[in-house]
Amino acid sequence: MIRRSVIRGSGHYLPERIVENSWFEERLETTDEWIRSRTGIERRHFAAEGQTTSDLGIRAARVALDRASMTAADIDGIVLATSTPDLTFPAVATMVQAGLGMKRGFAYDVQAVCAGFVFALANADAMIRAGLADRVLVIGAETFSRIMDWTDRGTCVLFGDGAGAVVLEAQDGNGTSDDRGILSADLNSDGTYRDLLYVDGGVSSTGSAGQLRMQGNLVFRHAVEKLSKTAAACLAKANLTDQDVDWLVPHQANLRIITATAQKMGLPLDKVVLTVADHGNTSAASIPLALSVADQEGRFKPGQLLVTEAIGGGLSWGSVVLRW
Ligand code: UT7
Repeated sequence: MIRRSVIRGSGHYLPERIVENSWFEERLETTDEWIRSRTGIERRHFAAEGQTTSDLGIRAARVALDRASMTAADIDGIVLATSTPDLTFPAVATMVQAGLGMKRGFAYDVQAVCAGFVFALANADAMIRAGLADRVLVIGAETFSRIMDWTDRGTCVLFGDGAGAVVLEAQDGNGTSDDRGILSADLNSDGTYRDLLYVDGGVSSTGSAGQLRMQGNLVFRHAVEKLSKTAAACLAKANLTDQDVDWLVPHQANLRIITATAQKMGLPLDKVVLTVADHGNTSAASIPLALSVADQEGRFKPGQLLVTEAIGGGLSWGSVVLRW
């Protein structure tokens, strides 16, 4: 018998304000047609003035707890992935913890940009398997609208705000790939690519929050190459192959990247969860958002195999394989 981390519930929250591609046409030299055809994005949500990353995270966490039929008192810890914290410290996770009325357990943030939720999920799973916790809330929450350069058409049309969450709970498994829960993880970073995607400010450099800078076409090439590789490596660790996959739940950065990855994995698009058109790229929130949307639609059946994968600033990239 070994301990596995099973998803008991998922939830998400998107800010009320929806911004269509046409909004950018009025401000920049861009078109709805360019954005749709190059990225698959049609609209995104932006947080209201004063609405912070922790506000979004709290709303998503409440839904996930409800859907898991649990209360905050049942949770042993929170791991929250974000690159857009309310404050430099304390961790957004502690703000979510307080917002949920939790008085016990640990709460900390993981910062791996767009790969953040995959890293946080793997991290929480490792803690559960090590016996440090039985139930962990794993959250991805972002307000990327706060770090956009609104004059840079190559980046500001791509990102959106939102949050998604899952409740992981320990369950005994047999140690085979038939077990429910997280079966394997594959995490990678290569800091020599830090200049491809970064924010040009920070506490110990400029003393300001900074704005996002990206060499999109170079990141694109790395994404297409690295995402299918990490998914294959992760499946291999669980003694599984592409053919065993029921659902790909990818990071939602660009429909062309998602399609290319699915193609390399031999997966038809009806096995891929797609939310990029409505959410844009919400960084660490994109995978839990996609998971929660698909879960609420009842698309995942017990026993089905899910693969998540993501890449982002760092570069950092990785994959988690789990049985629903
Ligand atoms: O989530 C974290 C990881 N991030 C990603 O995965 C993003 C990866 N990159 C991408 O998704 C794509 O590279 C972009 C969508 C950012 C850009 O698409 P692309 O096909 O790689 O275009 P490009 O950057 O090579 O630019 C092509 C042209 C350029 O014009 P010239 O130099 O050919 O005249 C750009 O200036 O498209 C132009 N362009 C735009 N045109 C209209 C760039 N942004 C826009 C825009 N509207 N918004």
